[in-house]
Amino acid sequence: MAEDLLKIEGLYKHFLVDKKKVEILKNINLTIREGEFITIVGHSGCGKSTLLKIIAGLVDYEIGSVTNNGTKISGPDIDRGMVFQEHRLLPWLSIQDNISFGLTNVSKQEKNRIVTDIINLVKLDGFENAYPHQLSGGMAQRAAIARGLVTNPRILLLDEPFGALDALTRIQMQKEILKIWEKEKTTMILVTHDIDEAVYLGQRIVVMSARPGEIKSIIDVDTAGSKIRGSADFAYLTNKVYQYFFEDEKQELEYSI
Ligand SMILES: Nc1ncnc2c1ncn2[C@@H]1O[C@H](COP(=O)(O)OP(=O)(O)OP(=O)(O)O)[C@@H](O)[C@H]1O
Ligand SMILES: [Mg+2]
Repeated sequence: MAEDLLKIEGLYKHFLVDKKKVEILKNINLTIREGEFITIVGHSGCGKSTLLKIIAGLVDYEIGSVTNNGTKISGPDIDRGMVFQEHRLLPWLSIQDNISFGLTNVSKQEKNRIVTDIINLVKLDGFENAYPHQLSGGMAQRAAIARGLVTNPRILLLDEPFGALDALTRIQMQKEILKIWEKEKTTMILVTHDIDEAVYLGQRIVVMSARPGEIKSIIDVDTAGSKIRGSADFAYLTNKVYQYFFEDEKQELEYSI
């Protein structure tokens, strides 16, 4: 059994909006093991991006504790890479310069080697000198993933990285991220509102409630068959996740009647 890497205990988060306290995350408890692929699925606005930003050290929190390898997270660190919901590539930099942007304290030669390897990994060979506006949406997301991986982080945080892509490109990218995970053995935490994506990619699927985001269930997926779209196992799992959301909707309906 792999070691526990990231530990979230009794985490609460609120934001002040118009001087009023808005509860965003409620009593989140989650332990992520080294090398795992975790998916977090939840409604829009349930606090998924906020949770990832807390893990990245970009947003602080009031109550609870978030530790990485036993150390309390108090800010960003190169051992946690992040791929944001929008690709955030800098339009004035070439793809290779965008990717190597966060690589400091390495020689020029070493930098070139790392960037060449990572460009191969995300299949952007030949586009090293292109600019972001010259890439398709899928290619830009690949560049963003490369930028997240360039410092060889232990954990890669992926915030709906394929949300803006068409259905076919998204399926292709899902296969590619799995290959990268198998090759690099990076711990992956991916948030999405796409149930199919969460089931396809996750070894464990964390299902969140609507805001304030609470963990409703953690579903363990250990059967290989579940990764085959269209299989009975896959349908069973997507249905199981769907039912947790449906439960919410039923409650909302009851309240509004
Ligand atoms: N800096 C902020 N100040 C105030 N409120 C915020 C801030 N950031 C996020 N929120 C609020 O927190 C809630 C959760 O936002 P978050 O971006 O984490 O949701 P999400 O689950 O990622 O949604 P989506 O699927 O639409 O990306 C929203 O209601 C949002 O308005
Ligand atoms: Mg979000």
